[in-house]
Amino acid sequence: MYLQRRNRILRSNPAIRSLVAETILTPNDFIAPLFIVEGENQREEISSMSNYFRMSIDMTVKEVKELWSMGIKCILLFVKSKDELKDNKGTEALNPDGLMQRSIRAIKDACPEMVIMTDVALDPFSSYGHDGIVENGEIVNDATVEVLAKMSVSHAQAGADFVAPSDMMDGRIGAIRKALEENNFTKTGIMAYSAKYASCFYGPFRDALDSAPGFGDKKTYQMDYSNRIEAVKEAVMDVEEGADIVMVKPALSYMDVIREVKDAVDVPVSCYNISGEYAMIKAAAKMGWIDENKAILETLTSMKRAGADLIATYFAKDAVRLING
Ligand code: PBG
Repeated sequence: MYLQRRNRILRSNPAIRSLVAETILTPNDFIAPLFIVEGENQREEISSMSNYFRMSIDMTVKEVKELWSMGIKCILLFVKSKDELKDNKGTEALNPDGLMQRSIRAIKDACPEMVIMTDVALDPFSSYGHDGIVENGEIVNDATVEVLAKMSVSHAQAGADFVAPSDMMDGRIGAIRKALEENNFTKTGIMAYSAKYASCFYGPFRDALDSAPGFGDKKTYQMDYSNRIEAVKEAVMDVEEGADIVMVKPALSYMDVIREVKDAVDVPVSCYNISGEYAMIKAAAKMGWIDENKAILETLTSMKRAGADLIATYFAKDAVRLING
């Protein structure tokens, strides 16, 4: 058979394949999410996220040092607030000695170069488990944005490098930027969860923080998974309002959205390889139905190929070990 072009030549062996690989994962691609709880010496496995843990500040600091030593340069902090501290306005989120603020300070002390991103949303502090203030059964936008702006300033004050609003209220990026400027936090970045979809795949995360909504769902603020163009609108508006990085979340079912957003904006794009995506791989691997390590590398590489410059993932450590291995 005569063929002018034989595409298999470039796939002939591992050396050639690695020479022509278009997408290569490195430790610089990852953001490691961390769940922090009160107490000392605490390291509790999250039941729906096998081999992932909630840790007290002391254990978190150890973990952060290990991540840094592996070449992971960015963490994203979430705190599990005590039930008795929760209220409708998320008052505890603004406490200068709250769990988040203490965690930021302890990590900065121990590992000053680590880039600290902090979750900005009310759900872990809300008695209703919603990302905003509830009035007459509705999640009100503008009053929530005011609290989010104050929360961001409080995190910046404690030493956060980036605040990461995950709430999906309108106008919060502009309000946060304004509040940071007014308080002279001119070096604090904003990673906006710009296209965050109302997803069933957040379940395990809500177990981790005990933050499931007490009534209804999050569909009046998180996006409808039917929509693609709307994601571009959200991302472009967030960039106009001052976002340094925009995020698409979840990742696996939203690869088209990652690409669409990547092509539309001139800032780095991140995606969040969320808890349900982690749990699915863990569960299938446990059953012996897929190879966990291969699944990790294939899914993360696909996210980068889709256009993600940064990937928040519970597999960050595993991925770095596999890349180096
Ligand atoms: C809420 C928040 C969620 C996640 C991060 N921040 C869940 C939600 O919207 O209920 C999910 C992360 C994950 O599933 O890994 N502000």
